Amino acid sequence: MHERYIYFSQFRHKKVFKYNLLICNKKVQHLPELIINNLSASVEGKQILKGVNLTVRGGEIHALMGPNGAGKSTLGNVLIGHPNYVINGGSIILDGKDLTGKTPEERARAGLFLAFQSPVAVVGVKLSAFMRAAYKQVHPEDKSKLSEFYDRMKIHMKKVGLDESFMSRSVNDGFSGGERKRFEILQMMILRPKIVVLDEIDSGLDVDALKLVAEEIKEYYSQEVGFLIITHYQRILKDIEPEFVHILKDGKIVMDGDNSLSLRIEEEGYDWIKNTA
Ligand SMILES: Nc1ncnc2c1ncn2[C@@H]1O[C@H](COP(=O)(O)OP(=O)(O)OP(=O)(O)O)[C@@H](O)[C@H]1O
Ligand SMILES: [Mg+2]
Repeated sequence: MHERYIYFSQFRHKKVFKYNLLICNKKVQHLPELIINNLSASVEGKQILKGVNLTVRGGEIHALMGPNGAGKSTLGNVLIGHPNYVINGGSIILDGKDLTGKTPEERARAGLFLAFQSPVAVVGVKLSAFMRAAYKQVHPEDKSKLSEFYDRMKIHMKKVGLDESFMSRSVNDGFSGGERKRFEILQMMILRPKIVVLDEIDSGLDVDALKLVAEEIKEYYSQEVGFLIITHYQRILKDIEPEFVHILKDGKIVMDGDNSLSLRIEEEGYDWIKNTA
């Protein structure tokens, strides 16, 4: 893609350039790129992330693994701008735009999405109203009717296995663990983010639900979306084969590899990495 762009830029003086640039621009525009650059962050005065470097591009699936307490969820929360976390070094760049100091709404609008490890209940807020409000925040340009929006929601609810009756329930209130995870996936499908961070989307899912969620992730996958899948288990990675696997330990990425690394982690744990990092 970039090579093509450079190639065409050599013909700047020619008439054809204008046309080709349009084609190239369109493609370049659609290929998201998240650059996490030397990111450090603390919570409650405790340093958790200690210089994380990671780039996720459209069409790429990355898995992030690491022991409990390594900072994986912290990374997800810092990316979406959770107010409890303080960035004290580095930057978060999406499509050339510096999101480091931006509000969660601005980051969501830019295309960042996090499916939470432990989604919280919002008592008194109906799921349908919550989704509509979130959608309007992220896609203010979309003037489609409410009825069209709800129709689209129902289609995706069916796909993730949530009954239509969930529309009028309070967000996550009394939802089972699996239902909460399905709702996270529903949000991804509705909000159409460019960079998707899934924090332990596979935990608490029964075998069938895991299959269904994996199917939805695959359906949503395209060259226009980059995934960062945080997980402890190889199970989901068998289905959604990541190209890249990263190990986060004590707030730093200590190893990168391909999917065979996730298999080794499952078999041998993390201790051996201590010896090689
Ligand atoms: N609000 C907070 N106050 C104090 N400590 C926190 C807070 N949030 C996170 N931490 C601490 O930050 C560290 C990293 O937590 P984090 O949730 O990012 O780990 P994780 O890698 O996602 O672990 P797990 O695999 O168990 O989900 C932990 O020691 C945790 O207790
Ligand atoms: Mg976590």
